[in-house]
Amino acid sequence: MEHFLGLDIGTSGVRAVAVDAAGERVLAAATVPLALRVPRPGWTEQDPEDWWTASRAVLRRVAAELDGPARGLGLSGQMHGSVFLDAADRVIRPALLWNDQRTAAQSAEIAAAVGGERLMAIAGNPPLTGFQAPKILWLRDEEPEAYGRLRTVLLPKDYVRLRLTGERATDASDASGTLLLDVGARRWSAVILDALAIDPDWLPRVYEGPEPTGALRAEVAAELGLPAGLPVAAGGGDNAAAAVGAGVIDPATLLVSLGTSGVSFAPTAGFLPDPTGRVHAFAHALPDRYHLMAVTLAAGGSLSWWSEVVGETVGRLVEEAAAVAPGAEGTTFLPYLTGDRTPHMDHEVSGAFVGLTARHGRAEMTRAVLEGVAFSLRDGLAIMAGLGVPDGPARAVGGGARSAVWTRILADVLGRPIVRATVDEGPAFGAALLARVAAGGAADTVTAATAGGAPAADPDPAVGPVYDEAFARYTALYPGS
Ligand code: XUL
Repeated sequence: MEHFLGLDIGTSGVRAVAVDAAGERVLAAATVPLALRVPRPGWTEQDPEDWWTASRAVLRRVAAELDGPARGLGLSGQMHGSVFLDAADRVIRPALLWNDQRTAAQSAEIAAAVGGERLMAIAGNPPLTGFQAPKILWLRDEEPEAYGRLRTVLLPKDYVRLRLTGERATDASDASGTLLLDVGARRWSAVILDALAIDPDWLPRVYEGPEPTGALRAEVAAELGLPAGLPVAAGGGDNAAAAVGAGVIDPATLLVSLGTSGVSFAPTAGFLPDPTGRVHAFAHALPDRYHLMAVTLAAGGSLSWWSEVVGETVGRLVEEAAAVAPGAEGTTFLPYLTGDRTPHMDHEVSGAFVGLTARHGRAEMTRAVLEGVAFSLRDGLAIMAGLGVPDGPARAVGGGARSAVWTRILADVLGRPIVRATVDEGPAFGAALLARVAAGGAADTVTAATAGGAPAADPDPAVGPVYDEAFARYTALYPGS
């Protein structure tokens, strides 16, 4: 059957899906897990070669399952990472990831060099440690020999694109996470590049998500069992691609994503930076569209960390937590395991369990983890509400959205209905829909699947006040509050 492929370079794994010609059904899917390296506290890295190996494995598996021809391939991936390449396109060092916090000095330098207000107006964001630009300056400061060899800087999915097609290309949504884009104009900012002495030739060309950026190289196609010349769409950063797949493209729709990170994503009528910089203002993966975004760095990441600490599966832990009443008996978890992005923008803050007594055990602590992540999302949504993001249901995607326990907690903590997206394949599905447009299979990304959705949980009015109190306890615990 004719189909379109989506490939997502996630933090915990690389996933490929094949979507039918109507953009409604997933015909095949494959995932290869990835490990996160934490070489020092606050540092997170992955080896781009591992993304490439995993990408080939999942694409080969999906191709082997299907008879009909693939018509297009779309890419999505974890945002903000830095792949540093030399003149021969060799990877110079492991990539620094979106949740890496080593660049405080360089972020301060960017604020000084560009000016805080000017940066907000152009890039839509303050100088945040996890973004790509301070990583480039970190390489200059800390590994000057490597910096001397630097000729290209790519985002994670765009490195995989280079291997697939030989092209240096990115898309406006992912490029928004570099701090080097003029987000309103959707092109690299000469002002910022000049101020930071970053060579524009190091950067890929910026496309819109549903534009073709090249074609699959013949030798790669032969190895993967895919058609040579397969068009490869620009795609989107993982959250923008997930929003496309969940039909969250117009203002008044809202996405909540619970992957390694947790995200609230609200499309906006235009480029609307938050003057205080506490939430991101980015380009969406569709032309002329923009969005606001709040990010909890360790969402599913907090739960998988906890599962490793106690040596129990996430499934079993969540089952135990379901038996604990809302509020976790006064136990609170602060999910700042890799610092905090929204709302505190604090790379130094760390995680904590607070309120433990001898009566409490694993189940209460797991419940506190689930609630703590939901509180962090509530923090972000409160800022977005102040910027005019309306109340209303949130569409949920990501591993956490598959948990009835966690979606119930989300509905009660956020005080809004949670709707599960029809196809819960997250970013890979959205990337396939962008490929479908790029390859001429459709005029836009809207399909019956993106328009639909199933109610997952409505807020329980009896529980709301319990969580209001627990949320007040949570916010008071931030050291700066
Ligand atoms: C978004 C962000 C994360 C990553 C995770 O700003 O940092 O959601 O994209 O993949």
